Amino acid sequence: MDARSNENLILGIESSCDETAAAVVVDGHRVLSSVVSSQIDIHRKYGGVVPELASREHLRKIVPVVREALDQAKITLAEIDAVAVTQGPGLTGALLVGMTYGKVLALALGKPLIAVNHLEGHVHAVLLEAHATGRHPKLPAVCLIVSGGHTVLYDVKTQSANGSNPTVAKFSYARIGGTRDDAAGEAYDKVARMLALGYPGGPVLDQLAQHGNPKAIRFGEPKMKGNIYDFSFSGIKTAMLYHLRRHPELQPEIDARQAALARGERSADALRTLSSSATLDLVASFQRAVVDDLTTRTLAAAEHQNARTILVSGGVAANRELRSTFEAEAARRSIDVYFPSRALSTDNAAMIAAAGYPRYIAGDFADAMLNAEPNLALA
Ligand code: KG4
Ligand code: ZN
Repeated sequence: MDARSNENLILGIESSCDETAAAVVVDGHRVLSSVVSSQIDIHRKYGGVVPELASREHLRKIVPVVREALDQAKITLAEIDAVAVTQGPGLTGALLVGMTYGKVLALALGKPLIAVNHLEGHVHAVLLEAHATGRHPKLPAVCLIVSGGHTVLYDVKTQSANGSNPTVAKFSYARIGGTRDDAAGEAYDKVARMLALGYPGGPVLDQLAQHGNPKAIRFGEPKMKGNIYDFSFSGIKTAMLYHLRRHPELQPEIDARQAALARGERSADALRTLSSSATLDLVASFQRAVVDDLTTRTLAAAEHQNARTILVSGGVAANRELRSTFEAEAARRSIDVYFPSRALSTDNAAMIAAAGYPRYIAGDFADAMLNAEPNLALA
C-alpha cells in the first residue's frame, strides 16, 4: 500500500500580487515544497507593482513554478488530492492567472478545487509553522496582517475544533481595525523611494535602522477620530517629505544613492556607506514610529479582545524591530506571540495550501464557476 494513502496532499497556487507561487503541503502542516518566483526585478524601476506587467509575468511563470513545486515534492500530479487557489483579494488580472490554471488542473485531474482568501492564507502562514513544530497557538487570537498591500487586525476564533488535530479546525474572523490609507509596507516602500534606498524598501530600511538613533526625530502619532484600532501611515510619509524639504543638505547623498541604485548597487551595506548619520537617524526614527504604532494598537486590541495569542503575518512581519518589540511587550503581558519565518511572511503558496486543508476536510469545494474577487473580504 502507498505510504501516503492516509495523507492528504494539497497543491496550493498563489498569484494575487507580484509573486507566482506553488506549494505542496501534507495534511495542512508539512511543507513538501514551496516555490516562489518573485517579480521584484520587473517592478523595481517603477517603484511599485504594475498590474499589467504582473499578469504577464504570472502567465510566463505559472506552469514552470507548479512543475517545480511538484518536482521538489517528488510527486506527480496524479498524487495530488486537491488544488487550493487564491480567489482574492488582489489584482484581478494577476488572480485570474493562478485561479484559471488551478481550476483547469483540478478539472482535468478530477480533483476538488478549493477557493482560499489570501488574507486567511496569511493567518495560516503563522499557524502552519507553529503546527509544524508541534506548537498549537491558543485561541482566541488577534492577527495583524501587515504587508505592502494590507495592514489589518482580525479577531480569530475557532469555529469548529478537532481536539486531536488542530490543523483541521475552521476559524471565524471579525475585523477589529485596519489602515485608512497606506499599508505599512507601502509606507516603507514610499519612504525608501524618497530617500533613494531602493525597492522594496522594507528590508533595507530595517537594516539601516539598526545604525541610527530612533529617538533623533519625533514623527508624532497619527491623529485619528473613531476606531482606535485603525492605522494611518500617510501622515508619516508626508512628515518625511517635509523633513527632506527642510533639510536640503541631504539631497547630495540622495543623488549619490540614486546613482548607486542605477548601477545596480542595491545592498544595504552599499547604501549605508552612502548614508550620513542624519539619514540613518531619520530611518531609525521612521521605523520606530511605525513599529510603535503597529505594536501599540495590536497589543491594545489583544487586551480588549481578551486574546491569548497574537499572530503577526505578511511581508512586514519580517521586520526585526517589530518582532523584538512584540516579543518583549507580549512577554510582559503573558500573551503568546507567533510569527512565520521570513520565507512564509511574504506571499507564498504553502499558506494557501494550509488554509485550504480545513476546507478540504469539511468538503467545502468550489466549482468551475469560481471567479476572482479582487476585493474579497475576510470579515
Ligand atoms: O507580503 P508581501 O510580500 O507582499 C504584499 O502582499 O504586499 O510584503 C511586501 C512588503 C513590501 O512593502 C516590503 O517593503 C515589506 O513587505 N517588507 C518589510 C520588510 N521586509 C519586507 N517591511 C519592513 N521590514 C522588513 N524587514
Ligand atoms: Zn500577501
